[in-house]
Amino acid sequence: MKKNDSAMMMDVDKRVRFDIERIREDFPILHTLVHGKPLVYLDNAATTQKPLHVIDADQRYYHSQNANIHRGVHYLSEVATFEYEKARGKVKNFVNAADNHEIIFVRGATEAINLVAHGYGRKFLAEGDEVIISAMEHHSNIVPWQMVCAEKKAVLRVIPMNDEGELLMDEYEKMLSPKTKFVSVVMVSNSLGTVNPVKDIIKSAHALGVPVLVDGAQAVSHMKIDVRDLDCDFFAFSGHKVFAPTGVGALYGKAEILDRMDPYQGGGDMIESVTFEKTTYNALPYKFEAGTGNIAGVVGLGVAIDYVRRVGFEEVEEYERELLAYGTTLLSAIDGVRLVGTAREKAGVLSFVMEHVHPHDIGTILDQEGIAIRTGHHCTQPVMKRFGIPATARASLAFYNTKEELDALGRGIAKVKEIFHA
Ligand code: ALA
Repeated sequence: MKKNDSAMMMDVDKRVRFDIERIREDFPILHTLVHGKPLVYLDNAATTQKPLHVIDADQRYYHSQNANIHRGVHYLSEVATFEYEKARGKVKNFVNAADNHEIIFVRGATEAINLVAHGYGRKFLAEGDEVIISAMEHHSNIVPWQMVCAEKKAVLRVIPMNDEGELLMDEYEKMLSPKTKFVSVVMVSNSLGTVNPVKDIIKSAHALGVPVLVDGAQAVSHMKIDVRDLDCDFFAFSGHKVFAPTGVGALYGKAEILDRMDPYQGGGDMIESVTFEKTTYNALPYKFEAGTGNIAGVVGLGVAIDYVRRVGFEEVEEYERELLAYGTTLLSAIDGVRLVGTAREKAGVLSFVMEHVHPHDIGTILDQEGIAIRTGHHCTQPVMKRFGIPATARASLAFYNTKEELDALGRGIAKVKEIFHA
């Protein structure tokens, strides 16, 4: 076969693999009628919908696999343990970690960040030390650090951003000093859509020997993650943002750092031995997995990962880039609509405000049209303050969305304008 023929075959293969109608068939909820109109689900940054594969896996687990893990010698316990640990291997491959024991199952990105803030911060931060976060963090990457900094009398520093919603990297570089002891930054902003240059952020921090946590909650459904290429020390994400159930997520951490950290919670499964005098801890990753976790959720996360990998991240990225560009052009062309977050590198988010209309009213009117968006501060109150607004309306995308749905959003906004004479 000539090179061109083979390239053409690949294109055909890609088109077949990324058949949007077939993909939408995998998500039963997308066929819901809302107020008699077809659902247009544009609230994917809040949570993504689940494919049949994940829904079936949940049912299968409780139907024929349920038992507690790591504890029983009986058949079902072995099945459940096998499925749980198999999912750990899938997460490891998904983020390209070096080893399964660098993957810790948690409730979600919030718990993952709390685990690091408490497990690392409380042990290694001291008075006068500095922790750097950014101006576009979700509250989940602000509050845990504030709590630990208050306890240790450490200082929280914030990388500022420009009017487009891009981090001022020069300011970051100036902020780094021997006092810096930790950096924790978001990869993709949930309220602005900005994709941050986390690789550069990590490189500069590492030059001073400072570890970096990347909050990947909004990144995982949009782009391929490679923690070894990023060279981050920690990577946190939630399953429900990547087509898996709620109440489950993962923390990746480099083994040598996790080994030095203390457990965040004590209880069953995280111990090696317990006497009333002294407890010794289990090996990684179990040291950080106290108590019975969301076993079915972990299994579902593994299935969701299989699903997105089958769809293919190259295809997802290309398709979503087109979708975002289409939505950006469409919203920018509407008189009285202003996009908030216009960074050069963006993923999945169209946040906007309208003259004379509160975002909550936009959301309520759109809901009547069957269109689901999120309105409010999106758990990023400092971002709202930075832009001098109380809230935004936010349409957020997943690979099952279509240009037709964005057209519906455009028509919905026209209705908002009509009602408010805006
Ligand atoms: N963090 C989620 C959002 O951005 C809930 O909506």
